[in-house]
Amino acid sequence: MKALILSGGSGTRLRPLTYSQQKQLIPVANKPVLFYAIEDVIEAGADEIGIILGPNKDQVIEMVKSVAWSVPIKFIYQGEPRGLAHTILVAEEFLNDDFVMYLGDNILRDGIVRHGERFHSLDSSASVLLTEVDYPQRFGVADLNPDGSIRRLVEKPKVPPSNYALVGVYFFKPVIIEACKSIEPSWRNELEITDAIQWLIEHGYKVDASFVEGWWKDTGKPEDIFEANRLILDDIELKNDGQIDNSRVMGRVVVEKDTKIERSVIKGPCIIGKNSIITDSYIGPYTSIGYGCQICGTEVEDAIIMDDSKITNAGKIVESLIGRNVRIQESAALPKGYRLIVGDNSDISL
Ligand code: DAU
Repeated sequence: MKALILSGGSGTRLRPLTYSQQKQLIPVANKPVLFYAIEDVIEAGADEIGIILGPNKDQVIEMVKSVAWSVPIKFIYQGEPRGLAHTILVAEEFLNDDFVMYLGDNILRDGIVRHGERFHSLDSSASVLLTEVDYPQRFGVADLNPDGSIRRLVEKPKVPPSNYALVGVYFFKPVIIEACKSIEPSWRNELEITDAIQWLIEHGYKVDASFVEGWWKDTGKPEDIFEANRLILDDIELKNDGQIDNSRVMGRVVVEKDTKIERSVIKGPCIIGKNSIITDSYIGPYTSIGYGCQICGTEVEDAIIMDDSKITNAGKIVESLIGRNVRIQESAALPKGYRLIVGDNSDISL
């Protein structure tokens, strides 16, 4: 089986972070979201992976190549995002076998092994993963027949026919390529995968539904990233490879190599990445601090702080998503007040 992982798109709901970095590279518990997808498809038996690239293609290639993966990875450039079904057409030459398509901004707690085995054991042309959600309007939604098979799929319906959302993982036989070639762009000018699957159903091909039981997150918005970070940190194991002096460490805390913690209180679950320095600070539950960060005289809780950021005497920071190489510090200069240099589409709560 091959795997097609989608790491294109423009990530508008995650601006301003996505002006400078591709959304699938945002770290959750210090691992890029995209890597969860790569690990899942390898675990499910993919013997070759194609990664769809969009506007920030070079940083995706660099990040993926920084790890020695156990299967070959091919990069496929899509350019502007023209729809999930469009990515299949762009990758047509690569997709000459059964394949799993995995949206690179999705994370599933239990991976996809069980769903892959089910697809291989059935004689279906496609299998979609479904799960019950509270707000189906945000997703593709399945209308099911009484026997659990799929009658119809609709993309982000105003009036959802059920609470079963399409999780961003799909198993296909190569006939999906013909379906993608047969459909027209939607009102938003995208080739929709839901329309291609609908084409299969209408042309008599069997489409199976496989239900996801553990948690699933589409990390399209900041609150989804926080939630994914909390869920992953809930499962981490205590580990200390750093140096901890005159500090109190409680609960499941991961301190990576060459990291120093001095005169601080650390309360898990949280992770502090390698080469970081934490002094006179409080790091609270559900915090992920990246590599090479410096936190001094500051309280941080329920937050993601990315690599090489430096935060000094900044008071209390909660539920925050802080990009790479950011500086936040107390200012002694007069007049007193917030001094902000803030990019377009930033989101600040004071
Ligand atoms: O996450 C599950 C949902 O994903 C499904 O319920 C929906 O049916 C499905 O359409 C999709 O909805 P989203 O609104 O989340 O799709 P988004 O535009 O965010 O794209 C999903 C991923 O695919 C994301 O990682 C970006 C990538 N992508 C997207 C498009 C449209 C590409 O690589 N190329 C594209 O052309």
